[in-house]
Amino acid sequence: MPATVLLVAIIFIGATCAQTGGNAKTLVTDLFTTNSYQKKVRPVRDQDDMIVLLVDFYLVGINGVDEAAQRLTTTGYLSTLWKDQYLEWDPALYGGVISINVPQSYVWKPALALQNGFTKLQELGSSVINVNINISGHVIWEPYEVFESKCNIDVKYFPFDHQTCNISFIDWSNNAFEVEIREGTYGIITAELEDDALWTVISTKLYHDTFDLESRLTYSVTIKRTPGFYVLNIIVPVILLGVLNLFTFVLPADSGEKMGYSITVFLSFAVFLIIVNSELPKTTGSIFGQYMIFQLGIALFTVCVTAIQLRFHYRTDPVPRLISGLMACRCKSKRKITNRNENGKLDRDESKLEETWKDVISILDFILFWISFSVVLSFTIFVFVKLN
Ligand SMILES: *[C@@H]1O[C@H](CO)[C@@H](O)[C@H](O)[C@H]1NC(C)=O
Ligand SMILES: *[C@@H]1O[C@H](CO)[C@@H](O)[C@H](O)[C@H]1NC(C)=O
Repeated sequence: MPATVLLVAIIFIGATCAQTGGNAKTLVTDLFTTNSYQKKVRPVRDQDDMIVLLVDFYLVGINGVDEAAQRLTTTGYLSTLWKDQYLEWDPALYGGVISINVPQSYVWKPALALQNGFTKLQELGSSVINVNINISGHVIWEPYEVFESKCNIDVKYFPFDHQTCNISFIDWSNNAFEVEIREGTYGIITAELEDDALWTVISTKLYHDTFDLESRLTYSVTIKRTPGFYVLNIIVPVILLGVLNLFTFVLPADSGEKMGYSITVFLSFAVFLIIVNSELPKTTGSIFGQYMIFQLGIALFTVCVTAIQLRFHYRTDPVPRLISGLMACRCKSKRKITNRNENGKLDRDESKLEETWKDVISILDFILFWISFSVVLSFTIFVFVKLN
């Protein structure tokens, strides 16, 4: 039983299709052949009239931002509407057909193009795209494209940066008196936007102006980088390596590990920088890039200081008066303890208790630890306050 119903339905639908199909066929023949439609002629009866093109932009995805090439890649489509005065018909004559779809190559189309594009200028849309025409000659054309547009990308605040990019459309072949591009009902639509792991659209704006006599519509899109990945995989490790580096000054020179340790930290830094290099924008000027160089510089400083310290550590000659003088105030307390323990020989030993190089190095370590700790800490705070 259901099979019979289905069969009847198919025959019925087939019959109606055939009927309006025949009408549509006649209509297309009449519109394009009998009336000798010329798609090269601007479709206004009075050629002084202007064609108004209403354009909405549906942004579907942010595909990527290339900092080095200064390029934004987006996916989206334009919904364009204009009136073609040569494509009107009376539905009563064509069995009530009120709209038809024909390939975009059949009709006159505005020479709409991406003005700030990255590749060579080319017509939008592809041959598979149809246009929809209704009885009053309104043509709807929706070319879907991957747009590569030029955009000034400033990585100063990477990875907490915002970028504002313009996507401009222009009619290359017609001036503003022949074809005017205006925003449609919605302007720019982000409702269909696919989530991107790296970029979120935070605001959009629309400008309408003329460029070189041609009417231009500009969509301005502000996007924000999601910093999570960079914070976790680059920023935190760099800070941790920086902390590790400070502890070079905590190791006593006697342990014999000091040099090895500082070199290891320095190498880890260098290797880490090489590994993350591919993830960083390939342009200069980011504050974070400078911060990494600063950390590398501190690591280098530590290695050099350690080498010099070790050289002095094994010297046995007396410490020059100037240095021991400088150290004197710091060692007073230590000396008192020594003196109390040795009771009687207090005053005579005082002169022999002068600093050895070992003491000097150990005090220097203490001072350097706190100095570099405060320098690194304050610079780190300064950088991250500036970035946010
Ligand atoms: C044809 O489509 C346009 C745009 O959608 C609309 O404004 C117009 O009213 C339609 N014409 C008729 C006769 O429905
Ligand atoms: C985008 O285009 C508008 C209008 O042409 C202009 O005022 C604005 O400065 C441009 N923005 C950027 C980021 O280039």
